[in-house]
Amino acid sequence: MNHFLDIHKTDTDQLRAMIDGARRMKAARGDRPRGAPDDQQPLAGRMVALIFEKPSTRTRVSFDLGVRQMGGQTMVLSGKEMQLGHGETIADTARVLSRYVDLIMIRTFEEATLLEMAEHATVPVINGLTNRTHPCQIMADVMTYEEHRGPIAGRKVVWCGDGNNVCASFLHAAGQFGFDFTFAGPPTLDPEGDFILYARDKGSRVHIERDPVAAVQGADLVVTDTWVSMHDPQSARERRHNQLRAYQVNEALMAQAKADALFMHCLPAHRDDEVTSAVMDGPHSVVFDEAENRLHAQKAVMRWCLGL
Ligand code: CP
Repeated sequence: MNHFLDIHKTDTDQLRAMIDGARRMKAARGDRPRGAPDDQQPLAGRMVALIFEKPSTRTRVSFDLGVRQMGGQTMVLSGKEMQLGHGETIADTARVLSRYVDLIMIRTFEEATLLEMAEHATVPVINGLTNRTHPCQIMADVMTYEEHRGPIAGRKVVWCGDGNNVCASFLHAAGQFGFDFTFAGPPTLDPEGDFILYARDKGSRVHIERDPVAAVQGADLVVTDTWVSMHDPQSARERRHNQLRAYQVNEALMAQAKADALFMHCLPAHRDDEVTSAVMDGPHSVVFDEAENRLHAQKAVMRWCLGL
């Protein structure tokens, strides 16, 4: 069973094949309209369940569109409206859905929910984000970097801000794709030690920096994300803003990176909090390519899950 649960749980060769496949599928579409089908229809006759226990714009639209372009159909389900939100177990939900659909994508809170769904489903399960990781996002990010600048192996990626779920998947990717990773943020928001150890064990050079200016020296890619994630209490907002203000990605900070450095943000962005509009809309930014590439990368992930 090809579940896509996390970057570090999938073989490097298979991750590489997915990125390459995504680029081929993107090129093959050319500039045809978004709703037009792909030449190949590998998902014809297949049904995909897209479950959201948290809000989403990109993940929801890109998965739905990707399935349709490949000839399949989707059911978009909100966790609250399902019996899942009213006491039915995750295991029973997985067993039932497996009788109706060919593939399940779930965005949920606890990683344990995702893992239980995968354990009991008899169809592949894709992680569309948990509180701990966001692997589909990072597949799109690696694809986007390589589209603009060639192989990411050996490059210096600098994360500024909160060591959150997206940061965690970047650390997994550092280990799998062989790039170096510097985290710049306050000590209370460091990524979990397991993620750092994984990347280091795989040979990636991982640095923790408190000084954002020192961190971005020589960076090939600068990345940030929202200072308050979906699972963080709103009561933490003011404290986090105070802790993270020094790590805002602005033009002065980007000027410390390499002249051809890229800027990424998985979006949604809070303009003039974690990143200024001048950087978001500036020459280094590839944030909208990143968002588009969610579509192409996830199409490759779904084909891999289904062996197509
Ligand atoms: N980056 C991302 O996952 O966006 P959504 O929350 O809109 O899906």
